[in-house]
Amino acid sequence: MDILFAASEAHPLVKTGGLADVAGSLPRAIKNSQTEIRLILPAYPAAITNAGKLKPVAELKLPGTTTPVRLLQGWLPHTRVRLYLVDAPEYFDRPGGLYSAPQGGDWPDNADRFALFARAVCSVAMNRTGLEWQPGVVHCNDWQTGLVPALLSLEKERPATLFTVHNLAYQGLFERDRFQALRLPDDWWSMDKLEFHHQVSFIKGGLVFADRINTVSPAYAQEIRTAEFGCGLEGLLEYRSNTLTGILNGVDYQVWSPGRDSSLPYAYTAHRPAAKLKNKCALQKAFGLPVEPGLLLFGHVGRLVEQKGIDLILQLVPKLLQRSMQLVILGTGHRDLENLLRQANSLHPEHIGIRIDYDEKLAHLLEAGSDSFLMPSRFEPCGLNQLYSLRYGTPPVVRSTGGLADSVVDATDANLLQGAATGFVFKNANSRDLLQAIDRALELYARPDAWKTLMQTGMREDFSWTRSAAAYRDLYTRLLDP
Ligand code: ADP
Ligand code: GLC
Repeated sequence: MDILFAASEAHPLVKTGGLADVAGSLPRAIKNSQTEIRLILPAYPAAITNAGKLKPVAELKLPGTTTPVRLLQGWLPHTRVRLYLVDAPEYFDRPGGLYSAPQGGDWPDNADRFALFARAVCSVAMNRTGLEWQPGVVHCNDWQTGLVPALLSLEKERPATLFTVHNLAYQGLFERDRFQALRLPDDWWSMDKLEFHHQVSFIKGGLVFADRINTVSPAYAQEIRTAEFGCGLEGLLEYRSNTLTGILNGVDYQVWSPGRDSSLPYAYTAHRPAAKLKNKCALQKAFGLPVEPGLLLFGHVGRLVEQKGIDLILQLVPKLLQRSMQLVILGTGHRDLENLLRQANSLHPEHIGIRIDYDEKLAHLLEAGSDSFLMPSRFEPCGLNQLYSLRYGTPPVVRSTGGLADSVVDATDANLLQGAATGFVFKNANSRDLLQAIDRALELYARPDAWKTLMQTGMREDFSWTRSAAAYRDLYTRLLDP
């Protein structure tokens, strides 16, 4: 079985969020003696630097552009997964974010950038680059690769296509003039193809044209068929529901395990969790908080966007100050949220530590040093931080949605009694429900034996990629032999 896995980011090459964690670890988990899987990404400067040794293997002639495009070949670091980088300097070699300019705001040519990337992926998929390799399945991820299934649908002898939705809220919407400039077939400008409320929607390329669609948790696969979570695409997803499945993301325990995490000052395991406390003190110091080993320390890492419910935490600040606890948050995102967090920090430096930054190493220390991880997401396709929290003995407080609902077992009396509980789950996205869950965590924390059992139950859970990789191999097999 030969698979081409296309994504716009992959750890440790380039990362803005969970998609990179998945694209950097799922292919390695899928690869086995019967499955060859190769990863293809845009050649951003950081990807070129972090990939190490690369060699140019093809010059691509792509429709609709005269810009030089080369294919660079290497390996996804520390794996035996073949890597291709699409090197189009005019489109990808620039300082700034993967999707946004240094001064903020999306790159104005994102439609052109990811259309070019999609065309390059198709060129490899159709074996037109001289590599003498043709995949049977092209596995696309999120809107940046949405045009791939659409463009491949125009080919006669084409590979099958799978489109994975990591987040339906990001759709790759552009004005009509972009649609025209990209010279896509005229009849794609219609509601049942790429048009979405008078714009061109790249994600619809995947949702309409892919042979199969999946998303990153079973619960989210159900949710996106409803108006509450469907972002206007629920009708289409309902229509395609016979090809839509949910597969929960896994964790790369080589990167995320407190027993062998090189980012941590002190290693610990479920069997010997004592050194977690030393990481807690290190974390309190790193955030300038009083070193108080006995106070419940809540933590959060993430993109500061509406999805993650940071505003619900902010609304609770006056109430949190009345409780015996501390809070640390690491993140970047919306300027307003960043400023409100900075303000909370400067008003209450004894209780609240904030770092507005993107810092991979500090994210690991935060998972290890916090007692509990707050994740009050309004929606969460899968969520990786709650899975990391479970492994790091940091029982998460989560809203019952998407992958959070699929991975955390609430500390009800019955679940605690059975030794099944792993965290605190609340129902509605409001600060009252969140506070109730925080209070339940504080109550249990006051019972050290019960808390230790909760921690260790989570630490012993297995969310490694093994099961999910097998589910993806199954999907590929069904695509190849419908
Ligand atoms: P999403 O993909 O929606 O951002 P996930 O929970 O799936 O959410 O994954 C987020 C990933 O990005 C995690 O690996 C998390 O540690 C990382 N991350 C997010 N923000 C930061 C940050 N400011 N510093 C370091 N890592 C971050
Ligand atoms: C998205 C989602 C997140 C998911 C990640 C990886 O960014 O917001 O829930 O874990 O993709 O699939």
